[in-house]
Amino acid sequence: MFWKNLKKPFFAMAPMKDVTDWAFRALVAKRGAPNVFWTEFISADGLYHTREIKKISDDENPLMRDLRFSDDEHPIVAQIFSSKPEMISYATKLVAQLGFEGVDLNMGCPDRSIEKQGAGAALIKNPALAVELIRAAKEVSGLPVSVKTRVGYHKETLDEWLPVILEEAPAAITLHLRTRKELSLVPANWKLMKKAVEIRKRVNPNVLLIGNGDVESMAEGERLATDTCCDGIMIGRAAFGNPWIFAGRKSDDTPLAEKLTALVELAQNFEKISPPKNFSILKKHIKAFVTGFSGAAALRAKLMESNSTTDLERILRRNSL
Ligand SMILES: Cc1cc2nc3c(=O)[nH]c(=O)nc-3n(C[C@H](O)[C@H](O)[C@H](O)COP(=O)(O)O)c2cc1C
Repeated sequence: MFWKNLKKPFFAMAPMKDVTDWAFRALVAKRGAPNVFWTEFISADGLYHTREIKKISDDENPLMRDLRFSDDEHPIVAQIFSSKPEMISYATKLVAQLGFEGVDLNMGCPDRSIEKQGAGAALIKNPALAVELIRAAKEVSGLPVSVKTRVGYHKETLDEWLPVILEEAPAAITLHLRTRKELSLVPANWKLMKKAVEIRKRVNPNVLLIGNGDVESMAEGERLATDTCCDGIMIGRAAFGNPWIFAGRKSDDTPLAEKLTALVELAQNFEKISPPKNFSILKKHIKAFVTGFSGAAALRAKLMESNSTTDLERILRRNSL
């Protein structure tokens, strides 16, 4: 089990829908890999429905596409969501067969469509079901199971919520240090990580704790890990436009030319994804890479018009970049 072999504090790249897809993970892997990769969230029910009911071939199935990874993205954890234990079992077996090193259960996502199914952050309000889901994942494969969640739903309820998960002995728990209600609108509360570490010590010292929220750099992550005694740090948004982050670089450390080369490589990776994803998804990355230098806004506006990698390269050449 890879979790136990990680040197502390370890760094994980956060799951981010339509951001940390294969194209971006491959870019990051070449520039400085995190200690743990995560896929974007994937619907366990969707996997079952498209494969077993609709019989869509794996090559044409967008959900199976989101479960592909390359050889240099290890260890990699697949994040799934559902409110049905049988769907969690189905998807866990599948990701074990596909060669993932771990399966992560999403219990923190505030997306309305996911919460409506009783999954994601809704599970914070339904601890009995959360327990069933963890058990379902643990029973069907030898894969280590982890959970990513928040510190509470309407308000912080770590004293009640965290022991429920700890008692199920997952390999690791990632705590996004905000409540569901807070979304990402207030600063992450790292004081709560200390509290979580105390609860873990009391309830189940074997479970690894990963802190998440607003970490801007490896140096900041190391400071927070020392201060709170958590085992690992997960970084999400700070990796936007900075695939060097896990090599210790801040966004400003990288010269513009190198950033634009990385953006083109990302677009090339993106176009290799099959079945294809809409090119507009890449625009989040364009915004993040093309920022912080004089003329950035004008160039960004032009690049936002691009519809292919060829277009993107043409615009960069025309601007002598
Ligand atoms: C665009 C975007 C997509 C996200 N998708 C997911 C997801 O698929 N699964 C998940 O557990 N969290 C998801 N998150 C939440 C992040 O994993 C992370 O918890 C959050 O961004 C806080 O960390 P950060 O401040 O380092 O970004 C997403 C966040 C963003 C901004």
